[in-house]
Amino acid sequence: MKTTMDLPGPTGNWFSGSWPEFRKDMLGFFHKYTSIYGEMYQFRLFAMRFCVVNSPQLLHEIFVEKNDSFIKSWNMRQLKMAFGNGLVTSSGEFWKQQHRIVQPAFRRSKLHKYAQQMIDIIDKVVGEWQDGQSLDIHGEMVKMTLQIVSKTLFNIDTEQDVQKVKDSVDVIVKQFASITSSRIPIPFIVPTPQNLKVMKIFFQFPRSARRMIRARKERGNLDDLLSDLFRAQQELGITDKQVLDEVFTLLVVGHETTATSLTWAFYLIAKHPHVQQKIEEELQRVIGQRNIEVEDIDKLTYTSNVVRETLRLYPPLWAIGRESIEDVQIGKQLIPKGVQVLMVQHVVHRDARYFDEPQKFLPERWENGFEKKIPKYAYFPFGGGPRVCIGNHYNMIESTLILAMAIQKFRVQILEDRGTALLPSITLQPLHKVEITVQKR
Ligand code: HEM
Repeated sequence: MKTTMDLPGPTGNWFSGSWPEFRKDMLGFFHKYTSIYGEMYQFRLFAMRFCVVNSPQLLHEIFVEKNDSFIKSWNMRQLKMAFGNGLVTSSGEFWKQQHRIVQPAFRRSKLHKYAQQMIDIIDKVVGEWQDGQSLDIHGEMVKMTLQIVSKTLFNIDTEQDVQKVKDSVDVIVKQFASITSSRIPIPFIVPTPQNLKVMKIFFQFPRSARRMIRARKERGNLDDLLSDLFRAQQELGITDKQVLDEVFTLLVVGHETTATSLTWAFYLIAKHPHVQQKIEEELQRVIGQRNIEVEDIDKLTYTSNVVRETLRLYPPLWAIGRESIEDVQIGKQLIPKGVQVLMVQHVVHRDARYFDEPQKFLPERWENGFEKKIPKYAYFPFGGGPRVCIGNHYNMIESTLILAMAIQKFRVQILEDRGTALLPSITLQPLHKVEITVQKR
């Protein structure tokens, strides 16, 4: 069995490897060493070995051809503390069964139904915005996307229940950021005061969620994902805990990623008045003065290209990790068992070989079938292969609707630009609060 990789890369110090440099600026670390070593290199954090792969062709091998040689990376597996054995963190045959149960809820026909529910919720939240009001846009987006995922997938619509989910997510996101920025990476399992706080939430949430789920069961079949999960309990014998893990996983990943990317979208739109104007023109052309309808979504191509371009520059999941479970050949390189393989969207999405003027926000670049002209994994905000994001199309519909309905009613502006410094936690969040001022049209 091979234990070393013949790859270049930074060595760091004898004890913690590259950790001191890595923790100071993770994204800067990947950009710097990609420019020095190219598409494949290695580094070490304490005893853990990493291999960075940033070539679209090799990503195809990892995501698709050799998917069975990998499991989710070490840090993703840490999330099992929160998500249990839900779709994001599970693997093997267990994942396959869960995927078969959950997948039908994301079929096209279902998305059509959700789109109407999304419109109703967005209308209500945007309807509360006041002319001239300054909004913490991330907070607004979390409020909206959490209500949407709770309602569409689980028919959870009481404010109290939605708030409970929000509280648990806040703590998890903060804790993840504090692990990655501390001097020594302390796993969730070590009882530091901060970790104890997280654990308390982990133990509290299941109790309240169980109550929530029990109450829902009494309402019978509501033709939603929760009803599918209840049916799978009877037909396949999946446990209460498994239902809970799936509900929690989807509630969390189904809103935080979208809320973060929309925060960036509003920031970028406010900073690029010509983009805002083009969205307005499209809305005028497709919808005019009437209310938006589900059938309009496919016609809002410029608005959805704004979503695509935002996901290129600020992919909420900014890197995807896998661990090799056996020696595996990727390109010309043999990767030994136990290596953490990282694929960094934030780097690949800004590669000038695929994207002209890569640092610029140019939604127009996506016109005329641009996505088909670049290599498949030059753009992968939703990952790829069998583990691709199940909510990909759901998110595109939701994000397009939120931008369209907000811009139809309000002109957005930034009065105080606090810049684009980043907080790379679970999602790639702005370090400073983004405040958007809305002017009624
Ligand atoms: C901007 C929005 C979103 C982004 C950027 C995003 C990104 C991703 C990525 C990159 C993965 C793959 C992770 C990996 O391979 O390790 C993933 C998986 C997943 N996403 Fe999303 N996601 C988004 C929205 C959503 C939504 C709205 C939902 C559900 C309502 C969702 C549910 C999931 C689930 C369940 C998985 C695990 C799939 C599996 O392994 O079978 N995501 N997402």
